[in-house]
Amino acid sequence: MAESITITDNRTGESIEVPIVDGGVDAAAWRKLMPGTWFYDPALMTTAATSSSVTELDGENGVLRYRGYPIEQLAEHSSYLEVAYLLIHGELPTQEQYEPWVHDITYHTFIHENVRKRFLEGFHHDAHPMGMLVSAIAALSTFYPDAGEIHDPENRLKQIVRLIAKMPTLAAACHRFSVGMPFVYPDNSLGFTSNFLSMLWKVAEPRYDANPALARALDVLFILHADHEQNCGTTAMRVVGSAHADPYVSTAAAAAALYGPRHGGANEAVIRMLKSIGSIEEVPAFIESVKAGKGRLQGFGHRVYKSYDPRAKIIKQTADEVFAITGKNPLLDIALKLEEVALSDEYFTSRKLYPNVDFYSGLIYQAMGFPVEMFTVLFAIPRTAGWLAHWVEALEQDQKIVRPRQLYVGHDARDYVGLDQRS
Ligand code: ACO
Repeated sequence: MAESITITDNRTGESIEVPIVDGGVDAAAWRKLMPGTWFYDPALMTTAATSSSVTELDGENGVLRYRGYPIEQLAEHSSYLEVAYLLIHGELPTQEQYEPWVHDITYHTFIHENVRKRFLEGFHHDAHPMGMLVSAIAALSTFYPDAGEIHDPENRLKQIVRLIAKMPTLAAACHRFSVGMPFVYPDNSLGFTSNFLSMLWKVAEPRYDANPALARALDVLFILHADHEQNCGTTAMRVVGSAHADPYVSTAAAAAALYGPRHGGANEAVIRMLKSIGSIEEVPAFIESVKAGKGRLQGFGHRVYKSYDPRAKIIKQTADEVFAITGKNPLLDIALKLEEVALSDEYFTSRKLYPNVDFYSGLIYQAMGFPVEMFTVLFAIPRTAGWLAHWVEALEQDQKIVRPRQLYVGHDARDYVGLDQRS
């Protein structure tokens, strides 16, 4: 027998049976039975806002797969650009598909001179690079007027290539501006992350050759951050995209969501927390203060993962590889001790609080020389591929404009009172 639920309206005695399909029930059936009575779900904690075939996340069992491929295998064998292709197109590329994809992305890394000279350089000297990035992504929309042709798959792909390609250039430009260094043009002879590192760190040398192990570590971090199904930023992308806004402003909306400290800013919070703890000896006292409700253990816990975040496991390995080159981040010992103490404490285990991806990523970024303000920017670069995959999927699903209802709890109708008559 097919699985189903029965809903009865106790006011009328009317019932309907709704089938359970792919783990969900169609809310339209509810609307038919009880028009004008809405589900109350402000943070969409109980709502599947869409169906999707991009990413599978099983939080209970610590499973993350892009298009069916386990994150562990992709992190070990793949590259960010290959993963970006997989997310956008749904399949891993063949050699014949991969080469032009890499070529197209490599040859779309330049940004219009006005974006840099007039737009980015107009920011205040201490502007946060993430604020600059969000604005710059939106500004690109004005440089590509054809971006509005969102129903043309070929045109969509052109904008997707541009966005994936230009994100590192914009990110590096924001960083260079914030530290008062001149802009470095992309070097098309370099790979995706090597080119990014060149645009970030090049000083006077004719060519910047990044340490290949560091370039690979960054590539792995990009793979791990490329998508994470219906998180806050991706939901913003889908909502804005549902209004048929172009991909640049939709991506800017998603990046704006990521800018929030509850979302993409957690790894920055981890570094600040580790610094404030100061030493291993202070860890037990800090854990007690968290348990007493005085703040949270940053980088721990997740809305969906109720076991170890699989990305955190891979990141821990990557951290060792990076520290072998850069030297150990002195905050690592405090982080390891925190993890050890928390994972053997009933407060954390009973609430299923485990390290998430952000617990170790900040330590790696810091060891690689990134200032904390750049952490969210580093998240936004690879997440662009995921956002765009969801954007395309929603368009292909012909999704209606997102327009939820509300439960009105304000005043009943009342008459306007003139300013001189108000007490
Ligand atoms: N430290 C201490 N206690 C915690 C933590 C934490 N990091 N996270 C959750 N809890 C406790 C809560 O106090 C609550 O306890 P209670 O039941 O006694 O009241 C219980 O665990 C459940 O917490 P909720 O806030 O209901 O869980 P929610 O799913 O809403 O929160 C979140 C998830 C926001 C990620 C939370 O775990 C948190 O604030 N973590 C720290 C910040 C962080 O690392 N964010 C990164 C998320 S990953 C990402 O966006 C890439």
